[in-house]
Amino acid sequence: MPHHNLFNLSGRAALVTGSSRGIGRAIALGLAECGAAVAVHGTKPGPVLDATLAEVQQLSPRSVAVIGELSEPAAAERIVTDAVAALGTLDILVANASVQLRKSWAQITQADAELQMQVNFHATLRMIQAAAPGMQHRQWGRILTVGSVQQQRPHPDMLVYAASKSAQENLVRNLAKQLGPDGITINNLAPGVILTDRNTDVLADEATAARVRDLIPLRFFGEAEDCVGAALLLCSDAGRYITGADLVVGGGMGLP
Ligand SMILES: NC(=O)c1ccc[n+]([C@@H]2O[C@H](COP(=O)([O-])OP(=O)(O)OC[C@H]3O[C@@H](n4cnc5c(N)ncnc54)[C@H](OP(=O)(O)O)[C@@H]3O)[C@@H](O)[C@H]2O)c1
Repeated sequence: MPHHNLFNLSGRAALVTGSSRGIGRAIALGLAECGAAVAVHGTKPGPVLDATLAEVQQLSPRSVAVIGELSEPAAAERIVTDAVAALGTLDILVANASVQLRKSWAQITQADAELQMQVNFHATLRMIQAAAPGMQHRQWGRILTVGSVQQQRPHPDMLVYAASKSAQENLVRNLAKQLGPDGITINNLAPGVILTDRNTDVLADEATAARVRDLIPLRFFGEAEDCVGAALLLCSDAGRYITGADLVVGGGMGLP
């Protein structure tokens, strides 16, 4: 295996959910830079998704956008179908989109719980069910789920979110054994605190930001780009012998 080619994704096609913004956007750009044609994804058409697609296409011109609201159960399979229709195949699936609701545990409604489990767990399973047969046929595939340090260290105001991420990580370990014989790896990337839109309001309070920073051994918040190296490792030939892993990208925040 020539080492200089380990991260080369030329000829590969990838779908990254939730890539209009944030961590997904950074991962989509990273995959495109390595040569993959990328289906970027958001809940709706608009300038944010258009701008991301334009940047991704600069790096990888065959890239496209797909749209889908993953709270709708039928959307997960359709997003995969749309990506395959536009790109020809799908070699890499990054299940990154999630819904995160902050509420005290006693206030969580049935609808709150169902929404987070639907987007963060059920949609991931459905997308894998839709994407895996093509990967099995070609005997090469990379599936990456994006979890959270909350898999191990749940936040009191995000009980269902944390549980959904734990469930997803359990799915990864389960499927690693079942998909491995077909040349498909599946891993989970667990970010710590990354500066994206979902954290802006909470971290705008300097006292809160200082308290959270103290929980991070490296003492700074990550940028979306800090997740790209780990994602490229797990989505390329560089990671061909890594499956079922949970890779924490959290400045040490995931430590017990
Ligand atoms: N940021 C952190 O500190 C952190 C920490 C731990 C784990 N994570 C995980 O990392 C992943 C990315 O987080 P992020 O902070 O980068 O997110 P973000 O900046 O809030 O972006 C969310 C992305 O997901 C899409 N999305 C939101 N709700 C959706 C839905 N119902 N159906 C389909 N797509 C939906 C959004 O599309 P639109 O643009 O159309 O709304 C957007 O592309 C998530 O799985 C999150 O749980 C993040």
